[in-house]
Amino acid sequence: MGIKSKDLISLADLSVEEMKEVFMNAKSMKDIISRDIKKVPTLRGKVVVNLFYENSTRTRSSFELAGKYMGADVINISASSSSVAKGENLRDTAKTLERMGADIVIMRHPVSGSHHILAQALQARVINAGDGTHEHPTQALLDIFTMMEHLGSVEGKKIAIIGDILHSRVARSNIIGLNALGAEVWVCGPPTLIPSQVEKLGVKVTWDMEKALEAADVVMMLRIQLERQSKGLFPSTREYAKLYGLNERKLKLAKDNALVMHPGPMNRGIEITAEVAEGLLSVIEEQVTNGVAIRMALLYAMGGGKGNVVD
Ligand code: CP
Repeated sequence: MGIKSKDLISLADLSVEEMKEVFMNAKSMKDIISRDIKKVPTLRGKVVVNLFYENSTRTRSSFELAGKYMGADVINISASSSSVAKGENLRDTAKTLERMGADIVIMRHPVSGSHHILAQALQARVINAGDGTHEHPTQALLDIFTMMEHLGSVEGKKIAIIGDILHSRVARSNIIGLNALGAEVWVCGPPTLIPSQVEKLGVKVTWDMEKALEAADVVMMLRIQLERQSKGLFPSTREYAKLYGLNERKLKLAKDNALVMHPGPMNRGIEITAEVAEGLLSVIEEQVTNGVAIRMALLYAMGGGKGNVVD
């Protein structure tokens, strides 16, 4: 089947069938990355560009590894060490990369919606690796894939997303994907960190963490994004941790076998305690591994691959 949309800017760009194909192929990719020699020639001859205007550890490294494991030529550009620092605009930077042969451009940018400028300017396919407070679709794909590996399906499952919903591109993309797959999504945080009218996205909203945790199948904690907050949106990190941080006592309200997730990077001791992050229910490290497999499956589809991956 492959992916019809030229670009992946929002998770809404993928149909449910396309998402399921990516999940199916991610399973094969996990087999490949568990081998001694993690190489397949699927993307040989393709050029993948990582264009990052914001810091990243997980997303950037996993896209780089995903491209390299599949035989693509991968180049990494960060704003601080490129001609962006001399004032070159986004369109000129992207056009320059395309003229050098880029087939797929993966971009992270602090401005919500900036990927639309790139997608219109380029024939190359564009993948959103996070834009401002808008979306982070590949994070949601890896999160949902991780849930499905443990739960079989997310349909009818209670997924509690807790924390800084207002600034979270991870929350928005997860809401879109989980709703499409039939999950029951709850969002929870202090009133100042919940976007107005968020319930219109088809989620249940509560300021009460205990209500969000009650019988949850999945507890997804979000990072407090202090770098995106110009004014104090809660009194102190200590108070935030008390009301909205996940600890072992609160986690008992969720189902016995609930999954604990966090997209990373974590503020340990604020939104999650070290005991819970490293506890038996935590799948946080699995999320990281699955990030490589999902990005391989996505690059396979965006590079023209259709149906089951052949390795
Ligand atoms: N989850 C995530 O996007 O992490 P990085 O900022 O390290 O890429």
